Amino acid sequence: MRFVTQQALTLLTAVLALQVPGFADEPPARPESNERSSRYEVRREHDPNGIGKFYMGREIAHVMGFAGADWLERSTREEEERLTLLVRSLQLKPGNVVADIGAGSGVISMLMAEQLLPEGKVLAVDVQQEMLDRLTAWCKQYDVQNVEPILGSQKKSGLKPESVDLAIMVDVYHEFEYPWEMLKDISSALKPGGRLVFVEYRKEDPAVPIKEVHKMSRAQVRKEAEQPEFGLTWAETIHILPRQHVIVFQKSTTTDAATIKP
Ligand SMILES: C[S@@+](CC[C@H](N)C(=O)[O-])C[C@H]1O[C@@H](n2cnc3c(N)ncnc32)[C@H](O)[C@@H]1O
Repeated sequence: MRFVTQQALTLLTAVLALQVPGFADEPPARPESNERSSRYEVRREHDPNGIGKFYMGREIAHVMGFAGADWLERSTREEEERLTLLVRSLQLKPGNVVADIGAGSGVISMLMAEQLLPEGKVLAVDVQQEMLDRLTAWCKQYDVQNVEPILGSQKKSGLKPESVDLAIMVDVYHEFEYPWEMLKDISSALKPGGRLVFVEYRKEDPAVPIKEVHKMSRAQVRKEAEQPEFGLTWAETIHILPRQHVIVFQKSTTTDAATIKP
């Protein structure tokens, strides 16, 4: 009986390999139990700054390690990226709950926190505990009390459903190892009508001095974010930063889209 089952499995695998596009040449990547194999593709030939995993035609970048925290805090960053202008353009309101996804050492979280007082707060999500420890130390040093660190995982932000008015990802989304899963999770965490903001270095502009896999085009961001499962609609692209796109999406005010299953 066991032998028959094994034979049937072998046959099924062979049939699938013939019929499902992309299945036959799927490389022997790390097994992922509940990952849809067709969503991501692993290629041998790739940019050395990327992880060799592709999503919707784009190579995913390596995660910036904790050693990069000094670069995030560099004194020239305000001049190069105009972060205060970015935060002003978001029109945050006192009482808002804002998720800073991929918060790093907390530069953006701390800029936003004061604008949310007295009731509002920043939920600072990152996958590296060292980054969150550094963020916590900065908040303590500057007596910023409304930033809450949250240790997320590669597929989950750790945010509660419908708990956030605005989620922002500054120079982060292109590093997600599981972008589809993260966007599904983050869109569920937005309140109906909540906003999701992508801040990405402009791929269309060769003068932007950043490695290629760390840049994204407007078209690529919209292609990835406007999948029906997320219930997100493009709202605006804000053209104010010297090097980055600011692309804003809004979650639908009904819950229909959030209930669509993958
Ligand atoms: C280039 S840093 C940007 C940090 C911060 N946003 C800033 O601009 O100062 C990217 C950060 O995203 C984090 N990150 C990468 N993948 C993540 C994920 N799936 N969930 C949460 N954070 C993630 C990294 O650990 C890193 O701290």
